[in-house]
Amino acid sequence: MSATIKLEKKHFPVLLNELISIISPLYSGTFIDCTFGQGGYSKKILENKFNKVIGIDRDPDVKKFSSILKKKYPNRFEFENIKFSEISRFYNKSVKPNGIIFDLGYSTDQIKDESKGLSFNSTSMLNMRMGINNISADDVINKMKPEYIEKILKFYGEENKSKSITRIIVRDRKNKNLNTKDLVDIINKAKKNSNSKIHNATKSFQALRIFVNEEISELIYGLINSFKLLPIGGVIAVVTFHSIEDKIVKFFFKYYSEKNKTSRYLPDLSEKEILFNLVNKKPILPSISEIKLNPPSRSAKLRYAIKIKNSENFGDFLNKFNYLLEIEDLKKKI
Ligand SMILES: C[S@@+](CC[C@H](N)C(=O)[O-])C[C@H]1O[C@@H](n2cnc3c(N)ncnc32)[C@H](O)[C@@H]1O
Repeated sequence: MSATIKLEKKHFPVLLNELISIISPLYSGTFIDCTFGQGGYSKKILENKFNKVIGIDRDPDVKKFSSILKKKYPNRFEFENIKFSEISRFYNKSVKPNGIIFDLGYSTDQIKDESKGLSFNSTSMLNMRMGINNISADDVINKMKPEYIEKILKFYGEENKSKSITRIIVRDRKNKNLNTKDLVDIINKAKKNSNSKIHNATKSFQALRIFVNEEISELIYGLINSFKLLPIGGVIAVVTFHSIEDKIVKFFFKYYSEKNKTSRYLPDLSEKEILFNLVNKKPILPSISEIKLNPPSRSAKLRYAIKIKNSENFGDFLNKFNYLLEIEDLKKKI
């Protein structure tokens, strides 16, 4: 019985072989796994006895997986229960990673945990906190002003029914504190004529998860701070699962690896620094056999870049996504 449960909760590390082959030329060094989860990537890297891994995860519940690796590799593995934007904590510890990896999103273990409320089938109170949070989805849905809820659903979920969903939320929350099931029922009502292939609640749940966990600033500062920690020649590799994440990672790597396109007859006046060597312009996608084995991997995209120059100037990157970063400030208005 327990074997079955264990198997159900096992997380399949997405694009594992592809990721390992990207960092393998740099083997024999230190790697930072910014989204440790069940440690699928970390375990694979530690198979080489010359490698060290620092695992990071905001969810304290993953400590049960990290302590297994700590026991097995006491001198080659360490774990920090922090957010990956806080990777800057390693600046003074003379850590010089060969590679820093991110596997965004949430693990099977987290989605199966009823109390986290990440699944549409959860019957618990609204939550969606992954760990180290100030607010929950309950605060958003049951306390926030309608115009703010609508903005979150529209910009973080790209949900075009954000107005009607918000209208029903505000009407129904007058009578009771809404829970996860109530929210799914409300979204189903607002989208009753939708013939989309994805679950009606997918976009709104994505929006709430992004807002509650401040995933936009986490990703943006996670990338910038990782870049600063990485020595020249090191690699940053990121697996994304939805279009907003992918847009941010794609811009970061592409913008700082390409020269501005000016006329070949004019001198290049651009002040933009070239910080990365982008080996693959297009993302690496899972194979058909991986998707068959693990259907949630179908939306995964792996992008990576090699650092070629130091820089402290990321103003253009921050300006580009300021419209998404600003939405996080709405939490001060709860
Ligand atoms: C998709 S899972 C990673 C699975 C992992 N690669 C494996 O093979 O088991 C994503 C993990 O990242 C963690 N996470 C998400 N955002 C984070 C952040 N900003 N800082 C630290 N950990 C984060 C989640 O708690 C979750 O455990």
